[in-house]
Amino acid sequence: MKKHVILITGASSGIGKATAELLSAQGHHVYGTTRKAADPSQIPASNGSGGFISMLTMDVTSDASVASAIETILSKEGRIDVLICNAGTGIAGSIEDTTVDEAKSQFETNFFGALRVMRSLLPVMRAQGTGKIIAVSSVAGIISIPYQAHYSASKFAIEGLIEALRHEIAPFGIKACVVEPGDTKTGFTQNRVLAQKAREQTAYSERFTRSLARMEHDEQNGVPPLAVAKVIARMIKKRNPPIRVAVGFQYKAILLLKRIMPSRLTEKIVGMLYN
Ligand SMILES: NC(=O)c1ccc[n+]([C@@H]2O[C@H](COP(=O)([O-])OP(=O)(O)OC[C@H]3O[C@@H](n4cnc5c(N)ncnc54)[C@H](OP(=O)(O)O)[C@@H]3O)[C@@H](O)[C@H]2O)c1
Repeated sequence: MKKHVILITGASSGIGKATAELLSAQGHHVYGTTRKAADPSQIPASNGSGGFISMLTMDVTSDASVASAIETILSKEGRIDVLICNAGTGIAGSIEDTTVDEAKSQFETNFFGALRVMRSLLPVMRAQGTGKIIAVSSVAGIISIPYQAHYSASKFAIEGLIEALRHEIAPFGIKACVVEPGDTKTGFTQNRVLAQKAREQTAYSERFTRSLARMEHDEQNGVPPLAVAKVIARMIKKRNPPIRVAVGFQYKAILLLKRIMPSRLTEKIVGMLYN
C-alpha cells in the first residue's frame, strides 16, 4: 500500500486521535494537531512499518498557527498527500438564546477553520498534481438538529463547500469528500459549549434541557471513534471517493430515508427525538 503524508486537524482526542493511530499503524506519516503546546521535534520512532504520529500545535482559527504547522510538515516531508479536516466543537442552545457572536465562534472553528487549512494546502496539492481532502462533517450536516442549529449549519456549510470544491480541484488531480459520523463516543460531549443564555431560565429551557440530555446520552452510547477512523481510512484508499459517506448502516439508512421521505415526515421524526 502507498504510504502517505497525512495531516489531521484535532488529533488530540476522539475521532482525530483514533484516525491518527489507525493510519500510523498502517505505515503512514501522520501529523496530528492540537491547540495545546506540542513539540514538533518529537517525532516518535517508527512503529516498525514506518508509520508514526507527530503532534504539532495548530489552532484552526489562526492564519499564523495554520501556516506554521504546514511549513513544519513541508520542511520535513516536502509534500502533504492527505488532509483530514476533523477539528470541531459543538455549541448548544436555542437559536433565540444564542448570540450572533456565539454562532460566529462556532463557524470560526467548524467552517472557517476547515476552510483555512484547505486553502493553505490547495496550492501545495496543486503543485504536487495530487492530494485528497477529507472533511469530517456529521449526520447533523444533512438533518438539522434543534438546539444545535449553529453546529448543524456549520456542517451543512462544509457539505456545500466540498460539493463545489470537488468541481474546482478535479482538473488538478485533487479529490475531496465528506465523512458523516453519527453519534460517536468521544470528548465532544464534554467539550460542548452551552450558549450563555441557555444556562439561564428562558422560554426554551425545559425542552432544551431534555433535548441536550438526549444528545449527550446518544453520543456517550454511540460507536467508538475507531468506527469513523476506519471509514476515513477507506476513503484514503479510494481512487475516486464519493461526495459523502455516512458512518454505519443505521445512519446510511436514515440519510437514504431523508432523501426519499417527504420532508414533513423527517421533520416529525426529528421533533419526536429532540423536541
Ligand atoms: N462525537 C460525535 O458524536 C460526532 C458526531 C458527528 C461529527 N463529529 C465531528 O467529529 C469531529 C471530531 O470531534 P470528536 O467527536 O472527536 O470530538 P473531540 O473528542 O472533542 O475532539 C475534537 C478535536 O478538535 C480539536 N479542536 C477543537 N477546536 C480546535 C481549534 N480551534 N483548532 C484546532 N483544533 C481544535 C481538539 O483539539 P485540542 O482541544 O487539543 O485543541 C480535539 O482534538 C468534529 O468535527 C465533530 O463535529 C462528532
